[in-house]
Amino acid sequence: MNELLLVTILVLFHCTLGQQDFLKSRNELSALFDLRSSLGIRSTDWPIKYNPCKQWRGIQCRNGRVTGINISGFKRTRVGRLNPSFSVESLANCTLLETFNASGFSLPGSIPDLFGYKLGFLMVLDLRSTSVTGPIPASLGNLTRLNALYLGSNDLAGSLPVALGQLMQLSVLDLSRNSFTGPVPSEFGLLRNLSSLDLSSNYFSGSIPSSFGSISRLKFLNLSDNSLMGSVPVELGNLSSLVELNLSMNALSGLLPAEFIRMRNLEVLVLRDNRLEGRLPDGLFSSLAKLRILELRENKFAGALPVALWSLQNLQVLDVSANNFTADLSNFSLKGHASGTVFINLSNNQLYGTPACLSENCNSIDLSGNYFQGKVPFSSPRNGSLGMNCLQTVPGQRSLEDCRLFYAERGLTFDYFWKSRVKTTTTAKSCPKGTQTMDIHFGGIAWWSWFHYDFGTGDRGGP
Ligand SMILES: *[C@@H]1O[C@H](CO)[C@@H](O)[C@H](O)[C@H]1NC(C)=O
Ligand SMILES: *[C@@H]1O[C@H](CO)[C@@H](O)[C@H](O)[C@H]1NC(C)=O
Ligand SMILES: *[C@@H]1O[C@H](CO)[C@@H](O)[C@H](O)[C@H]1NC(C)=O
Ligand SMILES: *[C@@H]1O[C@H](CO)[C@@H](O)[C@H](O)[C@H]1NC(C)=O
Ligand SMILES: *[C@@H]1O[C@H](CO)[C@@H](O)[C@H](O)[C@H]1NC(C)=O
Ligand SMILES: *[C@@H]1O[C@H](CO)[C@@H](O)[C@H](O)[C@H]1NC(C)=O
Ligand SMILES: *[C@@H]1O[C@H](CO)[C@@H](O)[C@H](O)[C@H]1NC(C)=O
Ligand SMILES: *[C@@H]1O[C@H](CO)[C@@H](O)[C@H](O)[C@H]1NC(C)=O
Ligand SMILES: *[C@@H]1O[C@H](CO)[C@@H](O)[C@H](O)[C@H]1NC(C)=O
Ligand SMILES: *[C@@H]1O[C@H](CO)[C@@H](O)[C@H](O)[C@H]1NC(C)=O
Ligand SMILES: *[C@@H]1O[C@H](CO)[C@@H](O)[C@H](O)[C@H]1NC(C)=O
Ligand SMILES: *[C@@H]1O[C@H](CO)[C@@H](O)[C@H](O)[C@H]1NC(C)=O
Repeated sequence: MNELLLVTILVLFHCTLGQQDFLKSRNELSALFDLRSSLGIRSTDWPIKYNPCKQWRGIQCRNGRVTGINISGFKRTRVGRLNPSFSVESLANCTLLETFNASGFSLPGSIPDLFGYKLGFLMVLDLRSTSVTGPIPASLGNLTRLNALYLGSNDLAGSLPVALGQLMQLSVLDLSRNSFTGPVPSEFGLLRNLSSLDLSSNYFSGSIPSSFGSISRLKFLNLSDNSLMGSVPVELGNLSSLVELNLSMNALSGLLPAEFIRMRNLEVLVLRDNRLEGRLPDGLFSSLAKLRILELRENKFAGALPVALWSLQNLQVLDVSANNFTADLSNFSLKGHASGTVFINLSNNQLYGTPACLSENCNSIDLSGNYFQGKVPFSSPRNGSLGMNCLQTVPGQRSLEDCRLFYAERGLTFDYFWKSRVKTTTTAKSCPKGTQTMDIHFGGIAWWSWFHYDFGTGDRGGP
């Protein structure tokens, strides 16, 4: 950088602008110009002749010092695009920097140590989707004022430095969608100010540290899509502020701790694709009254589906498919759906009985792969997947012998003889009388059909 030009610019700023907006530190001015060329920032964003504090996009100053740099969404100059790298050495001179946001701006290379050594005032570091690589430098543990660290969607790897557990002010930590390995440090339990922790889509192994139960302000916890094993720590039940918990796509085993009934603010509980087993804790759904999304799919849960489930007022997604739940759902009806879309998947369990009507708002319901009997229970147009049950007048059902056996094993009666009757006398139905239209998608096979049901007589008319 031409020294004379700099001085000229400085003098120019002094003359034309007030003291307030003027970048006081020549080191910082020089640093910004270096950054401008090392990153290849375009003149449209950082015009060379103007005052960085006032006219450069994304630069924040206070008392003549640079406190914020936001190059998120910037495009590089043609030259800058040729050989992009994470060359920000000059930042070392912006010692009062509080926020650095480069999300979406390509910075291939590893995170420079200078962040941890020189930028002690940093509060927000956002490097999401910047193509950064390598491990997280342990020096970031020096940033005691750091409030938010976003490193998601990059190519970071290696194990996590224990030193991150020193970031006492941290409230958001996003390391999702990288290639981190090794255990989740139990020192993260020291991050008492943390409200959001996202470690999803990495290769973390080992078990969930029980110390996580001490992060009492935690609202969002996402450990999904890793290789976590062992049981879910009972201490997680202490997280009574938790709003969303996603532990899906791991290899977690054992029972769901009874302590989960303490998470009274939980709206999203996603445990799908694990090896969890046994009954759900008693009273779970009467406690978790705010649940909107419940996904237990692909586990080994067994026993009854607790009755309180059907009374959840806000439930929009219910997926308990591919477990070993068994229950007579003869009279069940979902009371939720207050706010729209309802998706229900009960498929591939051992559910039986004659289902009554479901919510009118239900957009999609999959009952396939169970032992439901009787007639199709829907009362309004919706997608239904009903294959492999014991239902009447629906194609693709189990053999009558299978059905008879299943019901006989439970000492129940299966209406085995309806086939030979001309007019069926249907079992308990609470659906309103009248002709109904239904859009059915049978058993996951692309087989669409329109039916008209008369629930009073059981007569059926095709399209
Ligand atoms: C950063 O810059 C982007 C694009 O100019 C803008 O949308 C965003 O609000 C800025 N964020 C902050 C925290 O200044
Ligand atoms: C960084 O800028 C992007 C806009 O491109 C914005 O969405 C994001 O929230 C900013 N990060 C922080 C931590 O404010
Ligand atoms: C910081 O500023 C000083 C003084 O202008 C300069 O000597 C040094 O090279 C600068 N450091 C970096 C990393 O740019
Ligand atoms: C920063 O962290 C590193 C590694 O954790 C440590 O060796 C160094 O002493 C720290 N430096 C400062 C200035 O705190
Ligand atoms: C905790 O985080 C909040 C923001 O979520 C912040 O305002 C506060 O200063 C942080 N530190 C402590 C000790 O609460
Ligand atoms: C992880 O879960 C949190 C909270 O539920 C959510 O906001 C975030 O988008 C999830 N992360 C990914 C990568 O989907
Ligand atoms: C759970 O986390 C995964 C990321 O691995 C994400 O794709 C999924 O959408 C999350 N589920 C919910 C309901 O937030
Ligand atoms: C957390 O939960 C465990 C077991 O459920 C309990 O023993 C412990 O006292 C709880 N800790 C706090 C801080 O509430
Ligand atoms: C319901 O769950 C089963 C098994 O998990 C899956 O194969 C099916 O596609 C799901 N149905 C819908 C409608 O998503
Ligand atoms: C499902 O539960 C039944 C008892 O209800 C048991 O006999 C069966 O072995 C279980 N199946 C699996 C795959 O766990
Ligand atoms: C369903 O309702 C009928 C009539 O109200 C009752 O006789 C029957 O016991 C109920 N079945 C179940 C499984 O709750
Ligand atoms: C049925 O499902 C399809 C996709 O699976 C969706 O596009 C359509 O809107 C659904 N129909 C209704 C009535 O919800």
